[in-house]
Amino acid sequence: MDAIEALKTRRSCRSYKPQPIKDEELQTIIDCGLNAPNGMNTQLAKIIVVQDIDKIKKLSAMNAKIMGKENVDPFYGAPVCCMIVVPEDPGYGNGAESFKLNPVKDGSLIIGAMQTAAWALGIGSCWINRCKEMLELPEGKEIMQQLGLENYVGVGCCILGYPDNNPSQKKIKEGRIIKY
Ligand SMILES: Cc1cc2nc3c(=O)[nH]c(=O)nc-3n(C[C@H](O)[C@H](O)[C@H](O)COP(=O)(O)O)c2cc1C
Repeated sequence: MDAIEALKTRRSCRSYKPQPIKDEELQTIIDCGLNAPNGMNTQLAKIIVVQDIDKIKKLSAMNAKIMGKENVDPFYGAPVCCMIVVPEDPGYGNGAESFKLNPVKDGSLIIGAMQTAAWALGIGSCWINRCKEMLELPEGKEIMQQLGLENYVGVGCCILGYPDNNPSQKKIKEGRIIKY
């Protein structure tokens, strides 16, 4: 699938086969994320890759806790969860708000690139929210401490896996192109 087709047809996947994705496919998806544009090419964002199913279940329960729900799986049974994290304080900039926002923008572009790359390989993905809040829970702080990432904050979770069904389609809303 070429880049244009992948960008135009990618859809969020919310139902996954349980089997893990192949190492080389996962590596390609991660490489595409790492190659995303980023402010001033600081490359400060990191990708925490989780493939251990017990750890994914624990993260999913933390995510559900933030939603105030029990017995739901916000990760839809995906066998891979990547958490994209960025430094709380990037340590650069001249005080302008736009500089301070760069890390979150950088992390978002990583997730977008990973999702499109995954789709091009026939792999489903979905951005799952509440990553920041999850990692701020006591159990989230413990994970970040174990990883030596105490000063990082979550941007988003990117779940990945082989789709169990065709993701639902969406209609692009009218009126979103404004010519000036
Ligand atoms: C910032 C952001 C947060 C999102 N959070 C969630 C989420 O928590 N759970 C979920 O199922 N989908 C989530 N999504 C996926 C969106 O619902 C999805 O991208 C949107 O409905 C458009 O559909 P498409 O991705 O299939 O084009 C999120 C997407 C973005 C960009």
